[in-house]
Amino acid sequence: MTYDEDLEKLEIELLLNGVYRQYGFDFRDYSYSFLCRRIANRMQAENLKSISGLQEKVLHEPGFINRFISDFSINVTEMFRDPEFFLAFRERVVPVLREYPFIRIWHAGCSTGEEVYSMAILLHEEGLYQKTRIYATDLQENILEKAKKAVFALEKMKVYTKNYHAAGGTQAFSEYYMVSNDKKVALAPYLSENIVFAPHNLVTDQSINEFHVVICRNVLIYFNNFLQERVLNLFHDSLHYGGFLGLGAKEDIKFTAWNKFYDRFAPDEKIFRKIL
Ligand SMILES: C[S@@+](CC[C@H](N)C(=O)[O-])C[C@H]1O[C@@H](n2cnc3c(N)ncnc32)[C@H](O)[C@@H]1O
Repeated sequence: MTYDEDLEKLEIELLLNGVYRQYGFDFRDYSYSFLCRRIANRMQAENLKSISGLQEKVLHEPGFINRFISDFSINVTEMFRDPEFFLAFRERVVPVLREYPFIRIWHAGCSTGEEVYSMAILLHEEGLYQKTRIYATDLQENILEKAKKAVFALEKMKVYTKNYHAAGGTQAFSEYYMVSNDKKVALAPYLSENIVFAPHNLVTDQSINEFHVVICRNVLIYFNNFLQERVLNLFHDSLHYGGFLGLGAKEDIKFTAWNKFYDRFAPDEKIFRKIL
């Protein structure tokens, strides 16, 4: 490692320690390459020459911390994102859930809610939504406010409709929303009825309940191995015996200590069933 890399590492460490101690947000175990990229972007946007300059702003400029937090929260999402995942859920997990008197699902890192409403639609079509309670959580409170509104851009509906059908949906997707004048769509209010949106930080907060399903897709990719293991521990603690864990396409439990605690339930998708 060169002197400059050493210094950069030290400055990042100091910056993230400061953020944690002052504001309680802990990014210290996010993937190092991700941290470097996001910090470099913010420095460029603020025209700063050093990471210490960024630290100065974070600690002393009122409100700057919110910009800093959103730098580490990539909110990209879609309805029925990776439709094969939802298709496998519909075909393989739903028959098991059908046997339960009630169903509790946790969507961790739910972003603006598209994934959660997709699940609500799927469960509604399978006749299970009435007996389901979905807990949808994210680190960022402003993102959750957006999610609660259930209002999305009309231009996205073409892709979402395609995803919905690829995920096994057989209705007209337009039945689930109303178009407004400002090129927005509002989802049907009954889809929100059994969803609770709440802030939860996977790094610092405890388990919130025991669930039949935990879905956390495209979040672990931003964490280093140590933090992934810790969050997988939290999910294991949060699942009933026989419960399901759903991860993103690029995420896996294969090379973690948690592999032996799960059966690979849907071989081509990242859906695992707790067996220990
Ligand atoms: C790329 S989005 C994934 C959204 C959705 N799960 C999907 O796959 O479409 C990642 C989300 O994880 C959230 N996130 C990042 N770190 C988190 C943490 N420590 N605790 C809770 N959520 C976190 C971000 O705020 C962001 O909304």
